[in-house]
Amino acid sequence: MTSRSDFSSAVVDTFARRAVQYDGESVWMRDSRALQPLAPEPFGNRVALDLAAGTGLVGAVLAERGWSVVHLDISAEMLRSAGGSRVVGDSQFLPIRESSVDLIVCRQALHYFLLPAVAREIRRVGAAEIRLGQIVAPNEVAAKWWNELFQVLAPGRRRVFLPGEVEDFARSVAAGWTASTERFALRDDFRSNFAHLEEPSRQVADSIVSSMPAEVSAAIDFRDGTYRQDWEIVKAGRK
Ligand SMILES: C[S@@+](CC[C@H](N)C(=O)[O-])C[C@H]1O[C@@H](n2cnc3c(N)ncnc32)[C@H](O)[C@@H]1O
Repeated sequence: MTSRSDFSSAVVDTFARRAVQYDGESVWMRDSRALQPLAPEPFGNRVALDLAAGTGLVGAVLAERGWSVVHLDISAEMLRSAGGSRVVGDSQFLPIRESSVDLIVCRQALHYFLLPAVAREIRRVGAAEIRLGQIVAPNEVAAKWWNELFQVLAPGRRRVFLPGEVEDFARSVAAGWTASTERFALRDDFRSNFAHLEEPSRQVADSIVSSMPAEVSAAIDFRDGTYRQDWEIVKAGRK
């Protein structure tokens, strides 16, 4: 059985290898559609926590809008190029004091978390609003196939989300919270995030891709080495 610390050390190892090339891996990382909706006008004390901030791509947009940003990530290597305040830590056990954060954002990382633990921490640090950006699989068959590929591509990843599941999570954070979802699709290069793989993992990943079921390739519109990437941006909170 895989324990919590096995998941964490797999994540730390993988992102230590990905950190240097991370910002150029995929189209979504710098696409404004996957950045701007995560950054509302500042409110409260203007303190935003970027959970699993990585290299700080979302935090930079928040800072431009006037937020004071705390970047938190389990990987010190990923955080190295993030600006502002940086904290190496685990989203499930935030080293952040009670009622000190107005906004929490999290892009493309919820799949690494134990969600009930993160919901508890979001409530404890007092965020009035959360904004979550997540790629989702179009259906269960595709999610199962992506999960198989992610065992090789992204060890430590716990799941692949289906449409609507991120909003369900957001609503579960606190009683009375409302939530809404904005959807869009990007086209991305399929193998761009294989760059960190070494043999034999690369070979295993290639063979999973070459045996992609027709149902999956139709669902993600896989052609010419690219695919459709379905995004959900969930906004939730007390208002
Ligand atoms: C795909 S990257 C996303 C980075 C950034 N949010 C972005 O949008 O570019 C996932 C990040 O989640 C971080 N991560 C994974 N599990 C974590 C945890 N339990 N606590 C904090 N960070 C975690 C990884 O280190 C990595 O930087």
